[in-house]
Amino acid sequence: MSNYHIKHLEEYYQVYRKSVREPENFWEEVAEEHFMWQKKWDHVLSWDFIKPEVKWFEGAQLNITENCIDRHLATRGNKTAILFEPNDPKEDAEHITYTQLHQRVNKFANVLKDQGIKKGDRVCVYLPMIPELAIAVLACARIGAIHSVVFAGFSATALSTRINDSDCKMVITSDGSYRGAKTIDLKGIVDEALNECTCVETVLVAKRIHSDIDMKSGRDKWLQPLLDAASTDCKAALMNAEDPLFILYTSGSTGLPKGMVHTTAGYMVYTAYSFKNAFQYKEDDVYWCTADIGWITGHSYIVYGPLANGATTIMFEGVPSYPDFGRFWEIIEKHKVNQFYTAPTAIRALAKQGLELVEKYDLSTLKVLGSVGEPINEEAWHWYNDNVGKKKSPIVDTWWQTETGGIMITPIPFVTPTKPTYATLPFIGIQPALMDEDGNELKGNQIDGRLCIKFPWPSMARTIWGNHQRYKDTYFSAYKNMYFTGDGALRDDVGYYRITGRVDDVIIVSGHNLGTAPIEDAINEHPAVAESAIVGFPHDVKGNALYGYVILKDVGETRDQDNLRKEINQIITEHIGPIAKLDKIQFTKGLPKTRSGKIMRRILRKIAHKDTSNLGDTSTLLNPEVVQDIMDNAL
Ligand code: WTA
Repeated sequence: MSNYHIKHLEEYYQVYRKSVREPENFWEEVAEEHFMWQKKWDHVLSWDFIKPEVKWFEGAQLNITENCIDRHLATRGNKTAILFEPNDPKEDAEHITYTQLHQRVNKFANVLKDQGIKKGDRVCVYLPMIPELAIAVLACARIGAIHSVVFAGFSATALSTRINDSDCKMVITSDGSYRGAKTIDLKGIVDEALNECTCVETVLVAKRIHSDIDMKSGRDKWLQPLLDAASTDCKAALMNAEDPLFILYTSGSTGLPKGMVHTTAGYMVYTAYSFKNAFQYKEDDVYWCTADIGWITGHSYIVYGPLANGATTIMFEGVPSYPDFGRFWEIIEKHKVNQFYTAPTAIRALAKQGLELVEKYDLSTLKVLGSVGEPINEEAWHWYNDNVGKKKSPIVDTWWQTETGGIMITPIPFVTPTKPTYATLPFIGIQPALMDEDGNELKGNQIDGRLCIKFPWPSMARTIWGNHQRYKDTYFSAYKNMYFTGDGALRDDVGYYRITGRVDDVIIVSGHNLGTAPIEDAINEHPAVAESAIVGFPHDVKGNALYGYVILKDVGETRDQDNLRKEINQIITEHIGPIAKLDKIQFTKGLPKTRSGKIMRRILRKIAHKDTSNLGDTSTLLNPEVVQDIMDNAL
């Protein structure tokens, strides 16, 4: 018997030990008992962190949509699978049952086939949080096409980069999207992006805001009439365990975004198992994750993990502030939400509003609260615990990454005693290690170091699309035989982990990963800019905000600096998206550089943090004189 559902702490330790001592037996039992296979595996795991190459359930054949949909039809056909809550509270919510989901996914899958999409083709999905997004993703999986969802807040340039990197044949989008009181012209953004992409043959367009848009003949097709004409039968493609399921881009510290490739069987088993336990989901619970499906949290814990467990999962189209800051609490009351999973940045924004907004609504159905995306600070943790959970709903502070596919370190609610700001204990099967900068593992407790993982887990990304060398360099080269996360962490006296933040040049702003290099590249496109450097600094809602140091080409530049700042942020918005805009821009004559020409970000970071009492070793600086100047003019 596998321990699919852990109920007390002793059981956690016992199952954890088994998962570490006999990982293959452990995952084999879980896979065997809780999923639907067309053919079982030949062996459970083969791995090599040097190559690196990891394979789970090799030889098995399956389709993830049969596990997420078909197998629930007999017992849960009339149960709501997806509960869609629109942007505007006056619009009715939509309950999509498992039976209806089955029909809609099959229809969509048939449309994809009719439009020439085949197993292994890449399909870019650029949609707002409407049911078509989840259905498109599942329809791709149904026929074995690889979905690449791009968050619909990304700009045309960011979109075209991602489309081209994975050579997508199709884009699925909508005429536009609602975001609070605003509408966004998504189709216009797609049109602009596609000026740079020759690989895209077809664009399917869902109607959402009923705006008047251009349809390019031969390329653009309205989705609805195609769906109306399609059959509700579509045989699920037989997929190999290690066939790619999707690509999802995440920012790196340098260069282009990395297209993380997730494969089928291991991803399914791990997201389903972790969903069940990290949220203690029980039949008839209503689960709500506020993330967007454009991010990994949405892939794993709005779509695949919940549906694989036959859960009811809410998709919310809107924002926490519209029509007012009570919107989240209103939705919890309206749909009697049991598990609520959100990000610290949202909690901090909501905590700034009056408590009346929280108290106005009945939140008594809540059992479990989740947090993800960045470290949750103590104040936000307590506010969430006291006012939302009323001190009776445990907070699961879940640490994980796009690359890990599923939750890696987390309390199990009602099992692991929580501790503010701590993600607590490794999840089943996860073997963390803390390393020093010289590559030694730090044993024992009450230490901090760089967080690595020593052993493969089923949902880890297998490669970076088209660039395996980069996958190796980024994750498997810093420490021998270890996956390096890029995060720092500390382990307390009882072995609980607290994530302290990134140790590389990725900055997490409002829970979004932003690499410094692509932002700097965007800024440098401005004709007046010679060079720039970005660092993060603490922000009370966003967690981190961006501080840019910019050198202008013409030292005697007489243009209005505020105008220049606006122009720089405009360029960033065009290249990446509004999430990457800088809060502060300081014009400077120089940047502190080492003799080898590297910018010393450590110093810039300290200045942005207003922490200049000890700048550390500056003896290797080529130009120490600029430091004083930057400090004198700091914002
Ligand atoms: C950070 C999101 C502290 C971390 C699922 C990680 C966190 C990066 C937490 C991945 C947490 C995520 N506590 N930090 N609970 N969760 N992070 O790829 O720095 O968007 O490396 O995946 O977010 O972000 P990503």
